[in-house]
Amino acid sequence: MPWTRVVVALHADQAELVADRLWAFGPAAIEEQATAEGTVLLAGFAEASVAAAAAVAVDALTGAVPGGPGSARAVPVDDDGLDGWRAWARVEPAPPFLVVPTWLAAPAPAPGVHLLHIDPGRTFGSGSHPTTRLVLGRLGALVAAGTTVLDVGCGSGVLAVGAALLGADPVEAIDVDEGSPAATAANADRNGVADRVHASTEELATVAASGRRYDVVAANLLAPVVVALADDLVRVVAEDGALVVSGLLEDRWAEATDRLVGLEVVDVAAAEGWVAVTLRRRAPSRR
Ligand SMILES: C[S@@+](CC[C@H](N)C(=O)[O-])C[C@H]1O[C@@H](n2cnc3c(N)ncnc32)[C@H](O)[C@@H]1O
Repeated sequence: MPWTRVVVALHADQAELVADRLWAFGPAAIEEQATAEGTVLLAGFAEASVAAAAAVAVDALTGAVPGGPGSARAVPVDDDGLDGWRAWARVEPAPPFLVVPTWLAAPAPAPGVHLLHIDPGRTFGSGSHPTTRLVLGRLGALVAAGTTVLDVGCGSGVLAVGAALLGADPVEAIDVDEGSPAATAANADRNGVADRVHASTEELATVAASGRRYDVVAANLLAPVVVALADDLVRVVAEDGALVVSGLLEDRWAEATDRLVGLEVVDVAAAEGWVAVTLRRRAPSRR
């Protein structure tokens, strides 16, 4: 669906006033971008005529001459239907992280909170899904400096990059989606951890057969995928390591985790009908 974006560049201290004026015209969303010169507001409108009227109203407010320097511009945008969600994205709290879409302004984090800057492109993992946030929370409890991490089904790399921000080193990230390695690498770069995150389309079976083992394995997958990969998920967990699986429904998660033979459930975190289950190897005497 074609839509129209009103773009206005202004001093940061005018942003709230101008955004209020734009909201009065009923945009789908307003995005605020910090720039070296100040702030840019981008407001998306379904109707071109409404967008044009909003631009005129903004110019009247700021004193800019329509079409002149600093004036608001109404720009047609082609929406192919795959990026519409971006207008609705928001900063997502996932303690100890705040997941910040890269096109939104980053808030000042509270002490101990890590800003996790993510653009998923067309991969999964914007931070808007509860399973992503559940696993990020578990990583906060499990990862420290030097922890080795494998992210199975990395998507945007949100979990891998989050682990690296907590000090994990190295972090291996794998996905069957051909677009994931580039998205993950770009997100690692944005967060300053590109030197510790390696993303690829290597298969889990290959990783397992290579003998590589990890202190923490994160696997936010759907239940049938967890079941299909169960043996290899168990194999890649180091002797004292932990596996966090998610993408499982709160009322039937055990059907998948029962297949992770040799591991035992030590924690179940739930949100909005989903769970993230943490498992560790059974002590030898109890095998
Ligand atoms: C629910 S998304 C999780 C993305 C991200 N890790 C997060 O937590 O937001 C699941 C991902 O697993 C990937 N996937 C599915 N089957 C897989 C497999 N057999 N091996 C590796 N990745 C797989 C999908 O391509 C997708 O990117």
